[in-house]
Amino acid sequence: MSLQTLFPTQIYRSLLPLAFRKRWIPSLVKETKLFRDLDDEGRAWSREHYYGGYTSYSSITDLAFRSSGFADLKQWIDREVKKYASSLELDLGAGRLEMSALWLNTMGQGCHHSFHLHPLSTISGTFYLQVPKGSGEFKIEDPRLSSFMASPPRKKTAKLANLRFFSFIPRVGEMVLFESWLKHEVTANQSTSERISVSFNYDWIPARA
Ligand code: NI
Repeated sequence: MSLQTLFPTQIYRSLLPLAFRKRWIPSLVKETKLFRDLDDEGRAWSREHYYGGYTSYSSITDLAFRSSGFADLKQWIDREVKKYASSLELDLGAGRLEMSALWLNTMGQGCHHSFHLHPLSTISGTFYLQVPKGSGEFKIEDPRLSSFMASPPRKKTAKLANLRFFSFIPRVGEMVLFESWLKHEVTANQSTSERISVSFNYDWIPARA
């Protein structure tokens, strides 16, 4: 008898080393608030599309080129993305993965971000700068969900790999990486403090001719 696990969904979680958490996170939180103050366009967009929060998704996506603090963070993320890509055994040919966008998110009370994916990118992720208690979970669903017809639910005690949904509460300084086609959501912030994160996409860039 043999039981094989096929087509697994791999997500990658990593914690920024303590020394860097201490050194970088307080200043990145401050910078986030400064960018938000300066970003009239992003705040206006967020009022329409991101109820209760602010995101620079539509306005400032090149943070690593505007701030040395975010540039340092990007270097760490680049290295972690390489490890994840290696675990996924991606065959990039002569191409490479390159960060195409890095943007800010602050979520106030009641703010949530419903299920979505990041089309056209290869690997996406979020790094957490401030996570007050009760400020929501990162949740993903089984990507095969829309194909299920007469498939019974799984037991509450089912192994992680057999679950149809998975969620976790991130830590400050933690990062999650996933393939960009994987649907994910952030549940509502039920605390009165802001949850702050940066999100990013990596694209598959073909070799230069
Ligand atoms: Ni997302």
